[in-house]
Amino acid sequence: MLQNVGTEEAIKRWDTFADTYSKNHSEQGDLHKEVFLNPTILSLLGNVRNKKILDAGCGEGYLSRILSKSGARVTAVDYSPRMIEIAKERTPKELLIDYRQSNCEDLNNFKDKSYDLIVSNMVIQDLTNYEKAFQEMYRLLVNGGSFIFSILHPCFITPECGWERNDSGEKLHWNVDKYFYEGAYEQGLGDKQKMLIFHRTLTSYINTLIHTGFVLKSLVEPKPSEEILKKYPSFEEDFRCADFMVFELKK
Ligand SMILES: C[S@@+](CC[C@H](N)C(=O)[O-])C[C@H]1O[C@@H](n2cnc3c(N)ncnc32)[C@H](O)[C@@H]1O
Repeated sequence: MLQNVGTEEAIKRWDTFADTYSKNHSEQGDLHKEVFLNPTILSLLGNVRNKKILDAGCGEGYLSRILSKSGARVTAVDYSPRMIEIAKERTPKELLIDYRQSNCEDLNNFKDKSYDLIVSNMVIQDLTNYEKAFQEMYRLLVNGGSFIFSILHPCFITPECGWERNDSGEKLHWNVDKYFYEGAYEQGLGDKQKMLIFHRTLTSYINTLIHTGFVLKSLVEPKPSEEILKKYPSFEEDFRCADFMVFELKK
C-alpha cells in the first residue's frame, strides 16, 4: 500500500509501460477483454451508428476502432502521450477517430453535453480522483446519455488477494484481504513494471455515482459464454469468482 502517489506518477508508469502493454493487444484487445469485457460492453452500448462516443482512457485504441468501424463518431482520450501515439499508429486513416491526450479527471477543453455515450474500459481503478472523473463524465453526457465502465471487481481484486493452493499446487479457494483499504497499491503487470491501482469499496463506487447524479441501470459480473469456452476451455475456472464488474449508468 502506498501513500503520496497521484495522477502524474500513475501516468508516468503507464507511459513507460505503453509499448509492452500494447504488444499484448490485438484488434479485440487482450484475452480478458475478448472473453469478458467486449461482449458485455458492446451489448450494453447497443447500436452505436452515428452516436457520439467518448472512449475515456482509450489506451492503444482497440475499442475506439471497433466502435468507429460500427459507425460511431468517436473521440478517444488518454493521458499517456505514448498510448495516444500508438493508438494513432494503429488506426487506419479512414477511421476518423479524434484522439486527444487528456486527463479524464479534468476534461475542461470538452464542452458540456457533447456525447451520447461514454465508455471507459478498465480505467477508473487507475485514477487517483475518480470522483472528479465521474463529475466530468456526467457533465459531458447529453441528458439521457449512458456511461458504461468496467473495473477490476472491487470485492475480489483487493490489495491482497490470490489463490490458496494445496501442497500439489491445486487451487483450493480465492483469498481476499484488505477490502476496506481505500487508496493506491502496486500491481505487477510486466516483468519490471508495477502499475498503480486505486482500490475502493463497492459502496464507495455506488454512493459516489449516485451522489454525482447518475442513475444505475445495471451491473454485470461478466462470465465466459458457452461459445467462448469452446474456444478457450481454460476459462472454465472463471465460474468460481468474478474478476470484473461492468456498470451501466444513465444521466
Ligand atoms: C488498463 S488501460 C485500459 C486501456 C483501454 N481502455 C483498453 O481497454 O485497452 C488504462 C489506461 O488508462 C489510461 N489512464 C490512466 N489514468 C488516466 C487519466 N487520469 N486520464 C486519462 N487516461 C488515463 C492509461 O494511460 C491506460 O492507457
